[in-house]
Amino acid sequence: MLLEHVLDKPRAWLLAHDMDPIEPWQAQQFQVLVTRRLAGEPMAYLVGHREFMGRDFAVTPEVLIPRPDTELLVETALAWLARHPEAAVLDLGTGSGVIAVSIALAMPNATVTATDASATALQMAVRNASRLGARVDFAQGSWYGALPSLARYDLIVSNPPYIARDDEHLGQGDLRFEPRGALTDGADGLRDLSVVVAGAVDRLRPGGALWVEHGWDQAAAVRALFNDAGFNQVSSLRDLSGIERISGGSL
Ligand SMILES: C[S@@+](CC[C@H](N)C(=O)[O-])C[C@H]1O[C@@H](n2cnc3c(N)ncnc32)[C@H](O)[C@@H]1O
Repeated sequence: MLLEHVLDKPRAWLLAHDMDPIEPWQAQQFQVLVTRRLAGEPMAYLVGHREFMGRDFAVTPEVLIPRPDTELLVETALAWLARHPEAAVLDLGTGSGVIAVSIALAMPNATVTATDASATALQMAVRNASRLGARVDFAQGSWYGALPSLARYDLIVSNPPYIARDDEHLGQGDLRFEPRGALTDGADGLRDLSVVVAGAVDRLRPGGALWVEHGWDQAAAVRALFNDAGFNQVSSLRDLSGIERISGGSL
């Protein structure tokens, strides 16, 4: 992957030209990337992109690297939108824009808005929407505070930071290189989830739905947040590993 990136050639080309000499500057660039990788830097940041729902999204260390787990959230949103194709959709904490852009491209008659507290993350999302030809409105600010007070939606989706402040995983693997504000809410892992769930009640139209992604052990606590906020049909769905990874409900 690093050599594909440096030479800007696909894997098949590399295999077919495995005895070709490369330029000294290309060898040097490759060595720099290998050194960074050996220090643990995620591949997505080294090559500057990551695939999500079959599309290639640009990513930098300013945004979370999109995870395959999040495809379940998008697939669930698309199943809901198949019954409401002209819905107004809100993606809170859009990061690289993967959720909003995937929904906008799959449902061209939906109106999609995406927010983030981070200006640099939003720039990345704007860039991805424009590269992939998705029509998305963007707004910067903290959760619902980014939006006009009268704005209402039919479907809200969010993958907020849900790792607890003292979770040891924050010091391991790829997470060491990702923006801290995209990973942890700085509290117990449920603080941002509770803001998103409680605030949705005033932002959803009657019959509207909210779906959120959460940690592997948070499903029961998140369903309680939905029930406390007055949602109906509260449920959680399992990812391909059988773990309850998203929860949602309707008003
Ligand atoms: C787990 S990342 C999800 C990124 C992207 N939606 C995805 O699924 O790959 C959480 C995102 O929420 C954003 N965020 C953190 N605090 C926020 C806040 N108070 N208001 C809005 N967005 C926030 C972060 O900047 C980050 O982009």
